[in-house]
Amino acid sequence: MKEFNVGVVGAGHVGLVTSACLADIGHWVTLVDVDEERMADLKVGEVPVYEPGLEALVDEVARRGRLRFSTELTSVVSAADVLFICVGTPQGDDGSADLSNVGAVAKSVGRALAEAEEREHPLVVVNKSTVPMGSGDYVSMLIQEGAAEAGNGSVDYRVVSNPEFLREGSAVYDSLFPDRIVLGAHRRDGLDVMRALYEPVVEQSFPTKLDPRPKVAVPFVTTDLASAEMIKYAANAFLATKISFINEIANICELVGADVGNVAHGVGLDERIGSRFLQAGMGWGGSCFPKDVAALKSVAREYDHQPVLLDAVVAVNELQWKQVITKLQRELHTLKGKRIALLGLAFKPNTDDLREAPSLKVARALNRRGARVTGYDPVAGKKAVRLQSDLRVVFDLYEALSEAHAAIVVTEWEEVRSLDLEEAASLMKPPKLLVDGRNALDPRAASAA
Ligand SMILES: NC(=O)c1ccc[n+]([C@@H]2O[C@H](COP(=O)([O-])OP(=O)(O)OC[C@H]3O[C@@H](n4cnc5c(N)ncnc54)[C@H](O)[C@@H]3O)[C@@H](O)[C@H]2O)c1
Repeated sequence: MKEFNVGVVGAGHVGLVTSACLADIGHWVTLVDVDEERMADLKVGEVPVYEPGLEALVDEVARRGRLRFSTELTSVVSAADVLFICVGTPQGDDGSADLSNVGAVAKSVGRALAEAEEREHPLVVVNKSTVPMGSGDYVSMLIQEGAAEAGNGSVDYRVVSNPEFLREGSAVYDSLFPDRIVLGAHRRDGLDVMRALYEPVVEQSFPTKLDPRPKVAVPFVTTDLASAEMIKYAANAFLATKISFINEIANICELVGADVGNVAHGVGLDERIGSRFLQAGMGWGGSCFPKDVAALKSVAREYDHQPVLLDAVVAVNELQWKQVITKLQRELHTLKGKRIALLGLAFKPNTDDLREAPSLKVARALNRRGARVTGYDPVAGKKAVRLQSDLRVVFDLYEALSEAHAAIVVTEWEEVRSLDLEEAASLMKPPKLLVDGRNALDPRAASAA
């Protein structure tokens, strides 16, 4: 395989995992971020995000000298064959994707290219951040502008789009064994470089301890820039739709006395539908679905198109967590002074990510109604304290349940799934209400306890 010099900009969930995995498959990687504290931590082996397997992998590739850390982009640009942009693209006030981080990086890349010595090959600038259709061209324009500002308008680069599909909680696995790799570009040469860079992944030829692994070749999908960007938004919008769909069905099931778990099982066995993302519950959250669906809606509106289905997908999702409050009010009546335990805080298991987590929305709504809320999470607890100071956080599941009038299963961590229902009941106060926001527990066993 050809070994590349790779720069990765943005040491968040995506940038960290991407850089560690690219180093692991045999490239020479430098990870850059403007956050000096984060990079100083990484240099001494402290990995700032919780992701199974990531800390060990970062440690290993850093020790082998394959992964280095920096806060200085210019030298990384001049040494790199390929530069990944993995910075955040949060939701702006109007719902659209905020491209200011991506824009800042693009301009700096332009300036750095202008100042560097003449290159043998064009720099391949890879947009891995989730960005709206047309952003590849915008990045190209800003690189050119940055270069012109630095006094050298004839810099050599290619922009390609390479949307990221990793799931937090299994991000390392997803990066090494992806369902597909999607690349978009205006010109063939950038795509050829990316095919060579990803060869060990596409051919599944890199040595790994993570066996057994799928041995079939990974589909390598090449298309134009806008289509690659759209694939990411369409994928996330579809997954969010699937969850909202089953939640709509769950709400009707509850009215007619059907069991949504059994319904989802029966429906999901149809190969055209599939069983994944058919778990009814408190709805979707996290760092991607809410902002990506909002950004796609925003793009549609820009073109005077009303995204009727996406509007409904979001509306159903808003209903889901609010229904939990309604259920509590129906059973406990006034919530003032009532003790409520939130079992799980992260937006899903195996991550410490709390961005757009339903737990925080529920906690805020309960606090507003005068309830006393205690949250438990095995990993995201400390972050939750920082984000929401009025939330009491404990680090023992049963301590959260002690004296609680009601408990809500918010995140189906394994320890929550295997909750000792009898012990929980013995610790709680009447009416000992358990709202299973993830359909993770056996309702009959819970009632019996
Ligand atoms: N988190 C996920 O599961 C996931 C999955 C697929 C795609 N994505 C997309 O990937 C992108 C990154 O997401 P994330 O979750 O890793 O974000 P993050 O917020 O965890 O990390 C972003 C990092 O970028 C750094 N940064 C910001 N501006 C910078 C600049 N000008 N120069 C250098 N560094 C800068 C920040 O300091 C931060 O460390 C987003 O567009 C997101 O939508 C995320």
